[in-house]
Amino acid sequence: MKIIMLGAPGAGKGTQAKKIAAKYGIPHISTGDIFRANLKQGTELGKKAKVYMDQGLLVPDELTCDLVVDRISQPDAVNGYVLDGFPRTIPQAECLTNALKERNESMDIAIDVTVPDENIINRMSGRRACLGCGATYHIEFNPTKTEGVCDACGGELVLRDDDKPETVKKRLDVYHAQTQPLIDYYTKAGILYSVDGTQDIDKVFEDITKKLG
Ligand code: AP5
Ligand code: MG
Ligand code: ZN
Repeated sequence: MKIIMLGAPGAGKGTQAKKIAAKYGIPHISTGDIFRANLKQGTELGKKAKVYMDQGLLVPDELTCDLVVDRISQPDAVNGYVLDGFPRTIPQAECLTNALKERNESMDIAIDVTVPDENIINRMSGRRACLGCGATYHIEFNPTKTEGVCDACGGELVLRDDDKPETVKKRLDVYHAQTQPLIDYYTKAGILYSVDGTQDIDKVFEDITKKLG
C-alpha cells in the first residue's frame, strides 16, 4: 500500500502516519524527520534545510525529490510506505508520479487530514517532540506519563524550533499557497480521501483504517 499524507502543518499527518505504518507494517517516511535527523548529525543537507525550516519556508524541490525517490527504492519499501510531508508542491508531486511511472507503479491513496487554521496554532504550541526517537506528544491532547519524558525511549521532550506562533503562521501561509493545490492534483488523479482531523486521534485513525481496509 502506497500512501500520501496531506494536510496543513499540525493537522496530525505524523501522528496518523506512525499509526498506519505500525498497523500495516510499512515504513513511515517523513521528509521533515529526515531533515531534522540530518540537522542533528550536522550534514550538509541538514545545514541547508535548516535555513528554510527556521523561517517556515519550504526546502527547495531539488533537495527534496531525489531524497524521497531514493528512500522509496530501499528494500524495506517494497510492500509500500506512508509518505508524510511529501509531496508538498506540484513539482514534487510530478517528480513522484514520474518516478513511479518508470516502474509501472502509482500511489494508491492520498489522505488529506483537514483541520481549520484556527485550531492549528493551539496544537503546535502544545506539541512536544522527543530528541531521542522522534515520537510526538501533546501536553493536552496526547500527554506522556511523566511530564517532559518520552514514553517510548525515556528521551527528553522539546518544543520544535519552528513551532513558535510567528513561524507557524508563516508555515500556514506557505501551505495554502504551495501545498493546497495538491488536493486538486490528487482529486483529479482519483485517489483523494479527506478525513476530519478535528476529531480525536483515535477516531481519525478509525476513519482512515475503515477506508484502507
Ligand atoms: P514537517 O516536519 O513535515 O512539518 P509540517 O508539515 O509543518 O507538519 P508537522 O509535523 O508540524 O505537523 P503534523 O501534521 O505531522 O502534525 P502532528 O502529527 O505532529 O516539515 C517541517 C519543515 O521541513 C517544513 O516547514 C519545511 O521547511 C521542511 N519540509 C519538510 N518536507 C518538505 C518538502 N516535501 N518540501 C519542502 N520542504 C519540506 O500533530 C501536531 C500536534 O497535534 C501534536 O502535538 C499531536 O500530538 C497533536 N494532534 C495530532 N492529532 C490530533 C488530534 N486529532 N486532536 C488533537 N491533537 C492532535
Ligand atoms: Mg509531522
Ligand atoms: Zn523517544
